[in-house]
Amino acid sequence: MTAVGTEQEYAEPYLRGVLATAGLDVEYTRGEANTLYYNRDGREVGVLDFVGGYGSTLLGHSHPELIEYARELLAGQTPIHAQFSRHPYANRVAAQLNRILRRDLDSDENYYAIFANSGAEAIEAGMKHAELERFSRIAGLRAEIEASVAMARAAVEGGRARAEDIDALVAAVNEHNQALFDSTPLFLTPVGSFHGKLAGSVQLTYNPIYRTVFSALAAQARFVPINEPGALDEIVAAERRDLHDLEIADDQVRVVSRPFPVFCALVLEPILGEGGIHEVPVAFAKDVNRVAADLGIPVVIDEIQAGMGRTGAFLSSSHLGLRGDYYAMAKSLGGGIAKAAVLLVRESRYQRDFEMMHSSTFAKDSFSCLIAEKVLTMLEANDGEVYRTAARRGAELLNALRALQAEYPTVIAQVRGRGLMVGLEFANQAESPSQVLRELDGGGFFGYYVSGFLLREYDIRTFPTSSAVYTLRFEPSVHLDTSEIDRLITALREVCREIRDAGGTRLAAIA
Ligand code: F0G
Repeated sequence: MTAVGTEQEYAEPYLRGVLATAGLDVEYTRGEANTLYYNRDGREVGVLDFVGGYGSTLLGHSHPELIEYARELLAGQTPIHAQFSRHPYANRVAAQLNRILRRDLDSDENYYAIFANSGAEAIEAGMKHAELERFSRIAGLRAEIEASVAMARAAVEGGRARAEDIDALVAAVNEHNQALFDSTPLFLTPVGSFHGKLAGSVQLTYNPIYRTVFSALAAQARFVPINEPGALDEIVAAERRDLHDLEIADDQVRVVSRPFPVFCALVLEPILGEGGIHEVPVAFAKDVNRVAADLGIPVVIDEIQAGMGRTGAFLSSSHLGLRGDYYAMAKSLGGGIAKAAVLLVRESRYQRDFEMMHSSTFAKDSFSCLIAEKVLTMLEANDGEVYRTAARRGAELLNALRALQAEYPTVIAQVRGRGLMVGLEFANQAESPSQVLRELDGGGFFGYYVSGFLLREYDIRTFPTSSAVYTLRFEPSVHLDTSEIDRLITALREVCREIRDAGGTRLAAIA
């Protein structure tokens, strides 16, 4: 037996190898605002971070106010885990969120909060809550159908109505309906969605590499293209299923159809993040609200990445006039130091039994709630200064990237986004005259090689969106300043030159 040493990689060893291939396997030892530090030859090197903890550090790494507060909480022996007791701090977070939603949605409806530890978990709480709603609807339909079937049978037996063979008719209706009652529900979500990678949430994540192996584990989604008018209605029509019921007309028992609630919920990110930073068109947002109202299903808005102020407003959905019945939040809610997540459910749809059915040991703990409360206070301070800063800094970043696109129109296909959630898409290199670029394309890791180059040569950290590897994502904190934007543009200009004029050789050359 060999001794266990740390030179052997035990923690996801394959991933470490993949990162090494693109030169991304760096160990960061300190973080502050937009900078992450690592040690190179005994010297601390600062790396400008545009990944921002996958969008969880809107307030920057190690925000001093949050660090100080966390220190106080820990030094004061605040009990972090006191499950099944009063949690006034969780209530304060929910109350703050209600104040913000009332203002931003111009509504006076309450939203109740279910806490979680990660984005995927908040989404799955939403999936379960929507299924509980659907279950109650089905129970109601079932009871109504049972009553009318019993009435039809009694009418036939009492000679008040006619049916060829009432026993056979009732058996056929029951068999037809039972098959629908036993069927798994469907969710609707856009093509390109990312809602998490747990057994349930991964079914709503578009990328087949993440999803298909696990599709037998839970309810499925139908993926709707966001730029094809009418597509949502077509998918809904194609999936329509009807229950059978019995009715008496002109003393004759006959079978009638009643729509079955096939769908559980319509779940969407206002800006598809991991799918390539695509904002949902306003026309699609309108369709979402209309179709969900027609079907009687909740709209679940995933604000996990785009929300909490990143786009210049607390809710990224507010730019689209999109209204949610549920909202999922995580990432920046924890200020970059806590794992805070929450699902909000509109009072009129809220199923109070859900509280007895759903829980997590770590969710709603005092530490993450208190940090989230502090984060919300910081976001709302000075009449929303953070939101205005995100909008202003984001616009500056977007304009700088657009100017670079104008310099290299054949290399940069598109620059898009809102606030501090920006994507830069490179032109596809599958047909490039350069063999190196064609090979980078074929490997499926194009953006990762660009990221590796930016890290090695310019001490800049960015990643592609992993389901759209030609798109680099930029999600810095509100501390982003003009000199940092200049640094990024200088580095990206070199990438563009390399691609256009030098066949990408330096992108592929790992030190
Ligand atoms: N929803 C959205 C919109 C997300 O971007 C993510 C994660 C999740 C849900 C899941 O949250 O990781 O806390 O369970 N997005 C990462 C990304 C992984 O690449 O942007 P989680």
